[in-house]
Amino acid sequence: MSEYLLEMKGIVKQFGGVRALDGIDLQVRAGECIGLCGENGAGKSTLMKVLSGVYPHGTWDGDILWDGKPLRAQSIRDTEDAGIIIIHQELMLVPQLSVAENIFMGRELTLPGGRMHYAAMYKRADELLRELKIPELNVAQPVMNYGGGHQQLVEIAKALNKNARLLILDEPSSSLTASEIAVLLDILRALKAKGVTCIYISHKLDEVAAICDTIVVIRDGRHIATTPMAQMNVERIIAQMVGREMSQLYPQRAAGNNVSAAIGEVLFEARHVTCIDADNPQRKRVDDVSFTLRKGEILGIAGLVGAGRTELVSALFGAYQGPCQAEVWLDGRRIDTGSPQKAIAMGLAMVPEDRKHHGIVPDLDVGQNITLAVLEEFARATRIDGEAELTAVRGEIAQLELKAASPSLPITSLSGGNQQKAVLAKMLLTRPRVLILDEPTRGVDVGAKYEIYKLMLALADRGVSIIMVSSELAEVLGVSDRVLVMGEGRLRGDFINDGLSQETVLAAALDQRPAPAANTANKEPAA
Ligand SMILES: Nc1ncnc2c1ncn2[C@@H]1O[C@H](COP(=O)(O)OP(=O)(O)OP(=O)(O)O)[C@@H](O)[C@H]1O
Ligand SMILES: [Mg+2]
Repeated sequence: MSEYLLEMKGIVKQFGGVRALDGIDLQVRAGECIGLCGENGAGKSTLMKVLSGVYPHGTWDGDILWDGKPLRAQSIRDTEDAGIIIIHQELMLVPQLSVAENIFMGRELTLPGGRMHYAAMYKRADELLRELKIPELNVAQPVMNYGGGHQQLVEIAKALNKNARLLILDEPSSSLTASEIAVLLDILRALKAKGVTCIYISHKLDEVAAICDTIVVIRDGRHIATTPMAQMNVERIIAQMVGREMSQLYPQRAAGNNVSAAIGEVLFEARHVTCIDADNPQRKRVDDVSFTLRKGEILGIAGLVGAGRTELVSALFGAYQGPCQAEVWLDGRRIDTGSPQKAIAMGLAMVPEDRKHHGIVPDLDVGQNITLAVLEEFARATRIDGEAELTAVRGEIAQLELKAASPSLPITSLSGGNQQKAVLAKMLLTRPRVLILDEPTRGVDVGAKYEIYKLMLALADRGVSIIMVSSELAEVLGVSDRVLVMGEGRLRGDFINDGLSQETVLAAALDQRPAPAANTANKEPAA
């Protein structure tokens, strides 16, 4: 018998002229947990789609041996029957169906006579959710009633309900909170103890380091290295991924340490922002929040999930789904940002958290997506100036190092991280004065994160004011000049970021007020 449970040999996958996988080998031992790492567009998801039968045998070259025998799957169904279960990077749930129906999709339990055995499915679904420490989910409710983090957990429950010998997780944690991630990692450890093999893909490398035995790095569709985690650390994984040492994860501002000198007068002001829950008029998601933003300032908004951060910035941009009120001031004048169109016309731009639903238009190509918000700029009487449009698109693609073979490819063919860059490019083309970024680096690799931060600093140096919501505290502290902390819809802290600590921000988020720090509320930047 082979030493390996799985062997992939010389896998080549082409899309038109693009060689996404260029002869990749991958070996996995039974019971091993592999961390599959690589930059955006390296080919991780594509390799896993080849393995799981999303791309049927015959649409790629090379060989797959499963348990020593050739695997020639025609569909996901074939690989699931063999015990290969994949959790995709983009959620595959049917929003209108219930949590339980989604978990049992295609494998429904039936009563004699063929009717659905809902009682049995609800019971099993409940058990799975308890295992995932989310018993509060109602398994009879449509999944669309729940947020991204919960939906991701439903997707994981669905996978756990199948008999996995090999579990593939493609970015399972990008929309989970820190405590949900801890539960997920515990479950993976328990599965490992039961002998389940897994392949784990994540741009959160500390998770990869915590859970994986072996690190496989790929770059541009080629295998770079396979190394036991015992001989690796996060810095070495990064170096293998990007092909060079990265000495720092956050760029320095051109203005140097004296950042406050570069920050100007108050440009933007939000007053008395209140958002009511769309389903429950009694509940305030945001409760009377006011803040100011200076010209060229980067304002980070930290807080736990559910603190009201996304609701706050959506309300400012006219995109909150539900009743809300917000007074928005720019240059000392009250402005109307009642809809995203109006907000953009006033000089605001927002890159939303939920790329799949609010960021991209799946039916359009990469270039069309990027110019969507500024099409009138290219309108010449009755037609669109395609030449000028293309030049603008090429500029943005180059600036963000967006990996797309051509702007005329469908946006959905880009890797997850590159779709995120396309959404960012679209908003940058509107040349905003105030740029709102909600989780701007979700699913983005380390190297590209650095590029996005550099871009933020460059924009701020040119006088653009930036509001960034992020769940990654290290990122908030790494790039912000000032940090607002939210909790339960209220503002709980406003800190100048000169050596601000994670502990201070967390304590504010949890409303455990420590002794007032030297470094606190509304300190005037040095003139
Ligand atoms: N359906 C498709 N048509 C054309 N090109 C594609 C298609 N799917 C993937 N590609 C290309 O193949 C390459 C690898 O993409 P893949 O999604 O595997 O990257 P990834 O490593 O998963 O990246 P990320 O970390 O951003 O998720 C990319 O250049 C991508 O644009
Ligand atoms: Mg991917």
